[in-house]
Amino acid sequence: MGEPSRRAVLLGAGALGAAGALGLVSPAHAWTWPAQASVAGTGRGIDPRRAWDPEADAIVADLFARGQVEQVNALLADWTTNGQALPAGLPGDLRAFLERARVLPAWTDAAALAQAFSFYERRGLYLGLLYGLGSGMMSCAIPREARAVYYSAGGADLKDRIAKTAKLGYDLGAPDAFGPTGQMVVTALKTRLTHSAVRHLLPRSRHWRSGATENLPISQADILVTWHSLATFSRNKLTAWQVPVTRADEDAFLHLWQVTAHLLGVDDEYIPGTWDSASRQSRQILDPVLAPTPEGVKLAHRLLDLAGAEGGLSRPMLHSFIRYCLGDRITDWLQVPREPASDRAVAEGWPHFLTFRETLVGTPMPGSVFWAQDEFLRLGVLFFLGEGRPISITMPTGNNPN
Ligand code: HEM
Repeated sequence: MGEPSRRAVLLGAGALGAAGALGLVSPAHAWTWPAQASVAGTGRGIDPRRAWDPEADAIVADLFARGQVEQVNALLADWTTNGQALPAGLPGDLRAFLERARVLPAWTDAAALAQAFSFYERRGLYLGLLYGLGSGMMSCAIPREARAVYYSAGGADLKDRIAKTAKLGYDLGAPDAFGPTGQMVVTALKTRLTHSAVRHLLPRSRHWRSGATENLPISQADILVTWHSLATFSRNKLTAWQVPVTRADEDAFLHLWQVTAHLLGVDDEYIPGTWDSASRQSRQILDPVLAPTPEGVKLAHRLLDLAGAEGGLSRPMLHSFIRYCLGDRITDWLQVPREPASDRAVAEGWPHFLTFRETLVGTPMPGSVFWAQDEFLRLGVLFFLGEGRPISITMPTGNNPN
C-alpha cells in the first residue's frame, strides 16, 4: 500500500474537524471545560481534540520534505542550555520559530518557579517515583499514547525512549529550570519538534493505519491527558498520602507544569489556571479514556523488564509499588501480577517511610541536603539509561520497523 500524502493526512484531520463542527462528536464527550478557567482566561471554544500544533507541524513536515531532519538533529545536539544562542546553520523558518517559541509566556512568575525548585528539593524523591512508576505505567493505560509510543521509533528502543523522557523529568526539577542556566526550555522545545515529527511519520506506519482510531496523533487534548497523568496525578497522590504540602508549594508545582505545557505547544486557553480547574479538566479528559490495549500491556511489561534490570528493584517490589500508586483497576488492566507478600509490605511500610522522611524534612536541615541525596538517585538513573552518554532528544526519522 502506498504512503498517504501529507495532504491526505491534513485533509483527514480536516475531516475530523468537520465531523466535530457538524456535531458528529457525541455530546456525552463534548468539550465543556471553560476557557475562563485557563491561564488565558478566555478562548475560541475550539475542542482541543481537534487542535494540534500547526506552526511546528508545518515546519517539521517541510524539514522532512527537504531531507534536513538529520542535519537539524545534529546541529541541535549542542544546543542544551536555555540561555545559549541557537546554533548557526539552522534553516531560517525553524530558527525564527524556535526564537519565538523559547520566550517564556508573559504570565511566568519567577518567584513561583523558584518556590517550585525549593519544593523539589524537599519532595523531589516522591515526585520522581510518582512520575516514573505511577505516571510512566499509567501512560500504558492511555490507549492513544500507548499506541503512538508502541508504533513510533521509540517503541523499538524503549530504553532510549525512557532515558529521553527521564531527561525532561530531571530538567524540570533542576535549579533555574527555565532560567538561562537551566535546560528545560530547550528540552521542551526539542520535545515539541519530536511530537511534530511523530505527527508526520506515524500516519505512514502500516500498523497505525490498520488500527487507526484517529488520523493525526498527539492532539492538544492528548498532551493535556498526559499532563494530568503527571502533574494532577502526582498532586493528588501527595494529598492522598497526607504529605503536608503548603499552598505556596502546591501553587508553585502547578506553575512549573503550566509553563511546561505552554512550551510543549499547548494553547494557553487549555492550560488550567488553578488546581480546582485542573481537577475538573482531568476528570473530563483523563478518567474516561483510561483503558487497556494490547499495545499498552506489551509496553508495560517491557518497561517492567527494563526497570527491573536497570533500577535494581526486585520485580515483586516493583509490581507492588505500581499497584500501590495506581490501584487495582489499572494495575490489573496492565496484567501486573499480584504479589501478596510485598503488596502488603508496601501498603504497610510506605506510610511509615513517609512519616520518617517527613520528620526529617521538618528538621532544620537545609533542603539542599535532601536534594543532594535525591540527586544521586536521579543522576544514577539517567546515567544507566543513557549508558553514560549525554542524552539528546532528537526528531525520529522513521517509525517502529517491527
Ligand atoms: C517523545 C514528553 C505527550 C507520544 C517525547 C519525548 C519527551 C516527551 C521528553 C522525547 C523522547 C523521545 O524522543 O523518545 C512528553 C510530555 C508530554 C507528552 C511531557 C505531555 C505532557 C505525549 C502524548 C503522546 C506522546 C500525548 C501520544 C499521544 C510521543 C511519541 C514520542 C514522544 C510517540 C516519540 C518517541 C520516538 O519515536 O522517539 N515525549 N510527551 N507524547 N512522545 Fe511525548
